[in-house]
Amino acid sequence: MSNAKIDAFLEKTIVPSFSSLGIRIRSRLYGWPELSSYSLHGQTVVLTGATSGIGKAAAHRYAALGATLVIIARNPDKAQQQVNALKKTSGNNNIHSVIADLGNHDQVHTAACEIAEKWPVIHVLVHNAGALFNKRQRAQNGTDLSVELMVASPFLLTGLLLDCLKASSTIDLAQQQANEQIDNRSAVPARVITMSSGGMYTEALHVDRLEMRDENYQGASQYARAKRAQVVLNEMWAERVQAQHIVFHSLHPGWVKTPGITEALPGFSKVLGPLGLLRTPDEGADSLLWLSVDPSALKTSGGFWHDRVMRDIDMSDKSRKADTPAQRSALWQWCESHTGWQLPTTAR
Ligand SMILES: NC(=O)c1ccc[n+]([C@@H]2O[C@H](COP(=O)([O-])OP(=O)(O)OC[C@H]3O[C@@H](n4cnc5c(N)ncnc54)[C@H](OP(=O)(O)O)[C@@H]3O)[C@@H](O)[C@H]2O)c1
Repeated sequence: MSNAKIDAFLEKTIVPSFSSLGIRIRSRLYGWPELSSYSLHGQTVVLTGATSGIGKAAAHRYAALGATLVIIARNPDKAQQQVNALKKTSGNNNIHSVIADLGNHDQVHTAACEIAEKWPVIHVLVHNAGALFNKRQRAQNGTDLSVELMVASPFLLTGLLLDCLKASSTIDLAQQQANEQIDNRSAVPARVITMSSGGMYTEALHVDRLEMRDENYQGASQYARAKRAQVVLNEMWAERVQAQHIVFHSLHPGWVKTPGITEALPGFSKVLGPLGLLRTPDEGADSLLWLSVDPSALKTSGGFWHDRVMRDIDMSDKSRKADTPAQRSALWQWCESHTGWQLPTTAR
């Protein structure tokens, strides 16, 4: 049996695939290159959700690989502590924070303006911040907070930073050398990477039900709907923006032992944790890092990944059938009208 066939079989089994076994088997199966063998010197990475769990582990890797790292965080004290820790452990002083609550559009706008002014060329933008709210929470504008945090804000942030991302592929060598932010590497497409979840397999795309009604609210279903929307939007961005400028990827990290999962799904953590089946945050961040650094990730756009392999976005006919062009167009329109940001025709 080929490695790809073994992997595909593993993916269908779900529990072993998503657990710590999945990544440990696949890393041996494929003989993955070590992340430490890559360099991000001269590249600017903007990362959300870097103060905990998977994002925190990823931030340490980005810093160690030499990136100029900009973390977007809502809590100024936590952000400063994380910046200090990253500088100390990596010896990399190009670590910065920008403060924004991603449940608030005004703060997303302010953060995007600050970033565009200070870092006009962005090579990697990572939408990692996310949460599962067992009790419904609402953003300042009244929208369900998981939808705001994981669907609307990433859409808006990508849109507002589009020119900085495109600059990664268009900046010429003379400009690069004049700019202290960048060393003399050649222009490459930027990468926008969205941390979704395998939970999205359980929900289909229905834009009119993107936000659950209060009377039916279930945190896990609401979370999965937002995560499904993220994966579909990732494909839609890839159709709308040329891959020579920006490539888009989404992924699911498997089941990872983080403060987020322990709080949201305590029973799940209690059962799988002691069995050693939850991934470490480093393992949870592996594919995210790999998509950020490996040249092969520049060859495709719009894919959904798990353990360094592109995966199908559907595991059931129900979700496959619901994902129609009309639903997709409604989702894009919802994002544009909800955030007030529209993709200019010149940006394509
Ligand atoms: N852990 C898993 O098994 C698993 C599985 C599938 C997908 N994921 C996804 O992976 C990503 C990271 O999850 P995790 O498990 O590492 O969770 P986590 O430990 O709870 O970390 C979540 C991060 O998001 C930030 N965040 C939350 N709400 C925010 C807001 N309104 N504004 C700005 N930042 C906000 C948090 O900031 P604070 O530190 O300020 O709270 C934190 O840095 C999420 O998108 C999650 O859905 C995780």
